[in-house]
Amino acid sequence: MTNQKKRLFTHETLEKNVGLLIIFSIIVVAFAGLVQIVPLFFQHYTTKAAPGVEPLQALQIIGRDVYIKEGCVGCHSQQIRTLQSEVSRYGPYSVAGEFVYDHPFLWGSKRTGPDLARVGGRYSDEWHRIHLRNPRDVVKESNMPGYRWLQNKDVSNENIQARMNALRTLGVPYTDKQIADAPAALKGKTEEDAIIAYLQSLGVGYLSALRQQDAAASN
Ligand code: HEC
Repeated sequence: MTNQKKRLFTHETLEKNVGLLIIFSIIVVAFAGLVQIVPLFFQHYTTKAAPGVEPLQALQIIGRDVYIKEGCVGCHSQQIRTLQSEVSRYGPYSVAGEFVYDHPFLWGSKRTGPDLARVGGRYSDEWHRIHLRNPRDVVKESNMPGYRWLQNKDVSNENIQARMNALRTLGVPYTDKQIADAPAALKGKTEEDAIIAYLQSLGVGYLSALRQQDAAASN
C-alpha cells in the first residue's frame, strides 16, 4: 500500500461510491444503446421493404384493425425466429424489411396459438370462416374463442380513406388513386371478410419472392 501512488480516480472510487457507480453505469448503457440502435435507422435492410412486400389493400387494412381490436395479438405472434424448430414449423424466419409498412407492429410475444407470420394461403377462406366462428369445428381441441359476431358487422362505411391517409403520413406509399378507390373495395363486406383478407395476406409476398429467388438460383 505504501509504495502505491494515490491516484485521483480508480476502479475502487467507483465501487465505493454508489452514486458515481449509478451515473457511470447509465453513461455506459446509454452509449452502448446508441451504438446498437442508431445504425439500424440507416440500414436499408431495416428501413426498406423486403422483396415482395407490398402495403396492405383497403379490405386488409380494415382486417388488420379488427385483428387489433379483437386482441388476436394476445395469443398469436407474427415473428418467426431464426431457430431451426420455428423455421421447420412455420417457414422462413422473419426479416425486418417485412414490417416496414406495419404501424404499429403486431409481432406479439405470447403464443397460446401458433405464429401467424406465414399463415397466408395455408388454408382456404372457407376454412378461416368456419374456424373464426367456432374453432372447435375444425380443430377439436382448440381453446381459441369463437368470433361469430364478425360476420354481422358491415364495414362499407368505415373511414378507410382517413386510415390510409394516416398510414401515408407514416410513410406507407399509397397513391391518390388507391385512396380514392378504397371505399368501393369495402362495399358489402363484413369484418369477417376483412380479417380473412388480412390473414390471407400474411407472409405471402415475401414467400413468393423467396421462391422466385430460389428458382433463379437453381437454374
Ligand atoms: C385465447 C387465445 C387465442 C386468441 C385470443 C385467438 N386465438 Fe387463434 N388460435 C389459438 C389457438 C390455441 C390455436 C390453435 C388451435 C386452432 O387452430 O384453433 C389458434 C389458431 C389460429 C389460426 C390457425 C393457425 C394455424 O397455423 O393453424 C388462425 C388463423 C388464428 N388462430 C387466428 C386468430 C385470429 C384472427 C384471432 C382474433 C380474431 C385469434 N386467432 C385469437 C388461440 C387464440
